[in-house]
Amino acid sequence: MTGGAKGLLLFGATGDLAQRMLLPSLFALHAEGLIAPDLTIIGTARSDLDDAAYRKLAADALEKYVPTDRMDRAALDGFLERLIYVSLDASDPSGFAALGERVGAARDGDLAIFLSTAPQLFKPTIAGLASAGLAGNHVRIGLEKPLGTDLQSSCMINDAVAAVFPEERTFRIDHYLGKETVQNLLALRFANLMFEPLWNASGIEHVQITVSETVGLEGRTAYFDGAGSLRDMVQNHMLQLLALVAMEPPAHFDARAVRDEKVKVLRSLRKIDRETATAHTVIGQYTKGAVGGAPVPGYVDELGKPSDTETFVAIKAHVDNWRWKGVPFYLRTGKRMPTRQSEIIIQFRPVPHSMFAERGGRLQANKLVIRLQPEEEIRLLVMAKEPGLDREGIRLREVPLDLSLTTAFAGHRRRIAYERLLLDLIEGDPTLFVRRDEVEAQWEWIDAIRDGWTANGMTPKSYPAGTWGPSAAIALTERDGVSWHD
Ligand code: BG6
Repeated sequence: MTGGAKGLLLFGATGDLAQRMLLPSLFALHAEGLIAPDLTIIGTARSDLDDAAYRKLAADALEKYVPTDRMDRAALDGFLERLIYVSLDASDPSGFAALGERVGAARDGDLAIFLSTAPQLFKPTIAGLASAGLAGNHVRIGLEKPLGTDLQSSCMINDAVAAVFPEERTFRIDHYLGKETVQNLLALRFANLMFEPLWNASGIEHVQITVSETVGLEGRTAYFDGAGSLRDMVQNHMLQLLALVAMEPPAHFDARAVRDEKVKVLRSLRKIDRETATAHTVIGQYTKGAVGGAPVPGYVDELGKPSDTETFVAIKAHVDNWRWKGVPFYLRTGKRMPTRQSEIIIQFRPVPHSMFAERGGRLQANKLVIRLQPEEEIRLLVMAKEPGLDREGIRLREVPLDLSLTTAFAGHRRRIAYERLLLDLIEGDPTLFVRRDEVEAQWEWIDAIRDGWTANGMTPKSYPAGTWGPSAAIALTERDGVSWHD
């Protein structure tokens, strides 16, 4: 870790992400006294605003997106005073000198930059920063997705960044890593003795990772239609979850040790290619239906043109190493599903012999449910005896050992993932950011799948909005005798 930054330069400062997530997160950090009192936040974007107009925009965004019970009015003025604004067209190199001067005058110490702009602006922005002297040893850069659409384009972006910022000062954001429950996965696995001895192919039959969303396109038509669920959700968030579930215990909780272990998992993913894509993946696209009782249009109606982009994907993956030999990892994500739910299911193997069987007792294998959203909870399903004096035999029932993190840590409010990530960027701790070799291993795996879809002429199967995807997704697991955990 290096010294805390004294300046935070925010590209895309008027955008949707800034308004919904970044400003509310920074405000929360400010209100809790977690950022240095002399840290200046310099917003930049194309809009022609002065400091006062940007402060007004920020104040309006906070009113809109910070829940009333968390709105600390006493802290608001102080926060707004931290903000200054520089209008800049990042595609025009001439504007960077003025930015450099304003940033230089506003801070005296490390600078953290957060780039949340269109991918085509990455290269000119990086070059402009270098020309304005905003790339030296005391500057680190955070990069928000999308960082490319395949391995090649991602390498191009990474090369452009690397020409100016060395890897140790490059912070690639995957906001899932900022979620408390995702970090709790590490605590669960590596701060407790009881799971790890079973956490392998001898103890675990399969793993499921579901990230379902009820939302549709949310106005992001151009981006999403060019991406699809595989690139939007699996390439980053779901593969990060998989890596955290599957990795070996790191020796240290630091950036190098944790990321070294994740990348080993990503490189051990069995390639799904032209031969296996049809058997191991299912893609879908929603048609009109109802979510939560409300009618919603189909994807192509929302988009306004025909499209083969997938809004749902299910994958049967394997990690080909000693620990996970033969254990399927079923991944599934989709838009317009019945509920918003992100969860990891660890399905343990059954006991080798049941002494209860001859007395009528039926066993179910243990299951660990790690739920990230909507509630944060960890639930272990275990067998227990039903109370009663049955003469005939013994009745066993699956009951949950529940740990509701929301209840256990009731005094703690639920944070936005970006609070953690922005704080780490300001303080210079890269542990929860994605390293270049991880991103490249992720893209390599994803590119092979997409190549397999093209080679096999695979197009999305339709599913009505408000359902769990095409029936083929159910068949994907049922063929192995496994049901999705709903
Ligand atoms: C983003 C995707 O990275 O993650 C979106 O681009 C998706 O399409 C979002 O909706 C989901 O994030 P969360 O935190 O709401 O699960």
